[in-house]
Amino acid sequence: MSNKTDMIGKPIQHESALAQVTGQAIYIDDMPELPQTLHLAFGRSDKAHAKILSMDLAKVREFPGVAAVFCASDIIGKNDVSPVAGDDPLFASEKVIYHGQALFVVAANSRIIARKAANLASVEYQELPAILTISQAKDAGARLEVCQIMRRGDATKSIANSAHQVSGNLSTGAQDHFYLEGQITYALPLEDGQMKVFSSTQHPSEVQMGIAHVLGLPSNKVMVEIRRMGGGFGGKETQALLIAAAAALVADKTGRPAKLCLDRDDDMIMTGKRHGFEMSYEIGFDENGLIAGAKFDLASDCGCSMDLSAAINDRAMFHLDNAYFLPNVIIRSERFRTNKVSATAFRGFGGPQGMILIERVMDHIANELGLDPLIVRQRNFYAKGRDITPYGQQVTDFELPEIVEQLVTSSDYSKRYAEISNWNEQNQNIKRGLNLSVVKFGISFTTGFLNQAGALVHVYRDGSVVLNHGGTEMGQGLFVKVAQIVAQVFGLDVSQIQVTATATDKVPNTSATAASSGSDLNGMAAKIAAETISQRLAKFVAKKFNCDKDQVEFIDGKVCFNDQKVPFSEITDLAYLARISLSSTGFYATPDIFYDRTKHQGSPFLYYAYGAAISEVELDVMTGEARLRRVDILHSCGKSLNPAIDLGQIEGGFVQGIGWLGNEEVCFDDKGRLTTHAPSTYKIPTASDRPDHFNIALFDSEDTEIKTVYRSKAVGEPPFMLAISYHGALRAAVEAVGNDGFTELNAPATPETLLRAMTAR
Ligand code: MTE
Ligand code: MOS
Repeated sequence: MSNKTDMIGKPIQHESALAQVTGQAIYIDDMPELPQTLHLAFGRSDKAHAKILSMDLAKVREFPGVAAVFCASDIIGKNDVSPVAGDDPLFASEKVIYHGQALFVVAANSRIIARKAANLASVEYQELPAILTISQAKDAGARLEVCQIMRRGDATKSIANSAHQVSGNLSTGAQDHFYLEGQITYALPLEDGQMKVFSSTQHPSEVQMGIAHVLGLPSNKVMVEIRRMGGGFGGKETQALLIAAAAALVADKTGRPAKLCLDRDDDMIMTGKRHGFEMSYEIGFDENGLIAGAKFDLASDCGCSMDLSAAINDRAMFHLDNAYFLPNVIIRSERFRTNKVSATAFRGFGGPQGMILIERVMDHIANELGLDPLIVRQRNFYAKGRDITPYGQQVTDFELPEIVEQLVTSSDYSKRYAEISNWNEQNQNIKRGLNLSVVKFGISFTTGFLNQAGALVHVYRDGSVVLNHGGTEMGQGLFVKVAQIVAQVFGLDVSQIQVTATATDKVPNTSATAASSGSDLNGMAAKIAAETISQRLAKFVAKKFNCDKDQVEFIDGKVCFNDQKVPFSEITDLAYLARISLSSTGFYATPDIFYDRTKHQGSPFLYYAYGAAISEVELDVMTGEARLRRVDILHSCGKSLNPAIDLGQIEGGFVQGIGWLGNEEVCFDDKGRLTTHAPSTYKIPTASDRPDHFNIALFDSEDTEIKTVYRSKAVGEPPFMLAISYHGALRAAVEAVGNDGFTELNAPATPETLLRAMTAR
């Protein structure tokens, strides 16, 4: 059995592209509201760390238009919305541990009323000392878990024995997800104690389970559904549950539909961000720049609770090597607790923080030896006999030497590198910088059991197909990719596959759509489901028309056998009449991965995703303003399932990365209050921040060993880290001011930071 319809590798537009640009795509806030719908708002802590002495909600309750108010004591099940550790209460009861923490929820006839009433609570606190920075947490010993250590060989000795040494520091900032659609839930009570919850979440199964725990119900009473998010970026992996649980609680208590839609400021204050890191390194290397020993110390600000911090910080450790072989290495990773909103998943999941440190190291070594940093990178690349990562996984699919070679040629790197040196010698007011950085990103959840997915495919009598799977659509194009896969199996056009909302009562026990593995996992599960049906059809055709079932092909809407071509819809109708099942589930679990976290050794990734970028910036020495002149990217998506979607992911990921490393600055004041909680003070990149010249190409991957769906590679997160070249280019431009050797530059490199760095030279 085979088929020739070519749905794979086609640049098909996003399934909602037209609906989204015309405003017809339905998000949760666009759904028609049922009569009696209650609108909710949180009452929030205005202290970062305090004992709650008393909480008087009488005025909140009495406010005209308020229907109900609920707090911790109203919860029948567990007062917890944490993903792992049981340390995130839905409502604070005895203590508050960050400014903005939820204390209660108000349900009213309108959102405005709910918001106004929420401000009328009178809460008495006894303030406690708040830990607001990594150094304060260090001093107080406020750790979420013991220091994690990954090591190989003797780093200290090999550094000491090296001809050259460098050491330095780097800190990277937090980042707000700034999804266009804020956190939202609409909860509807149904008969028989059931509840239907529309939640903007990357993880419907976790929201389902979390609501069941809070309400003290079994999971089968709760159905969670999400058709699409207006962006998630990791910010709706665990964070959606807080909002969903509050809405479900109100719906359960009042028997009325309940909608909670966070205002942008509340969203930024109450939900977690990327982990800020403070890092240092000590490196020993030879006269060619080849690293012999490396010591890394990482410290992250995890905020007030565990959330996913263990796995996120582990991923930072996994990506400290990036593309480079470190024969002797020790990585220490501290996870600190502070009185701030709990830090959470964000595109790259700790990987970017680890990766930027080693990329910095490459530039530092180059500076020390007076070499082009590109050459130092190439010399330290993984290679035959030098291909085991610090955690023990063998790098068998290393595509970077070829990617870099092609990119260096296509971007005219060497000529431009020389031109920029010239420019910088001649121009005092405008400095330029050029930098290449690479990405090697491990694909799979490092928590092994999460690497599973399910799908559900129905074919109707008329040959039309409905597709459902456990993955969620947040703009990344997962739904069109999985539809292409199913279309391919049936020999249909993708337009004949109806994608449907992700729902916990269709596909159960799913993992978050995260770790970039949405299409790897759900694509495979859907393929298995579709193939189960196509094989049944082939068997049926073989019997009915007397042919070999292996010769039955599904091509261009026809089922082909012997010399016949029968429309797919005729075969499905005949199969129905012959009582053949036209529906199937599919299940997939990633093979061959394992990891021992107690030793930090194993083979946690099915494969790696690779890419390289070259950024050229221009920096105004007087103002610190920076501009991206040109970016060249070559990125591998294996055999791309959909080059249009993949190019979009690369471009979007890169631009989100320059936000993290450039202008997006998350600031808290000395009371632990977030001061950057609106677009007026928090600057995400806009269309005008795109580089003037933006050349993105897909690397034509030759990897034939890869065990993924149609040999494609994940693309959601890896391109984010290509933006490290932007930061490297800024650093190079700063270094062109004065003659003081190597310069350090932290992230985000805001104009103020750049100006300070230049002034210091
Ligand atoms: N692209 C868009 N447009 N919106 C998003 O929210 N999230 C990113 C990435 N690309 C995101 C996105 C993150 S954090 C991840 S993990 C992946 O998409 C998740 O989807 P995938 O596994 O299907 O690639
Ligand atoms: Mo992405 S940070 O894994 O949701």
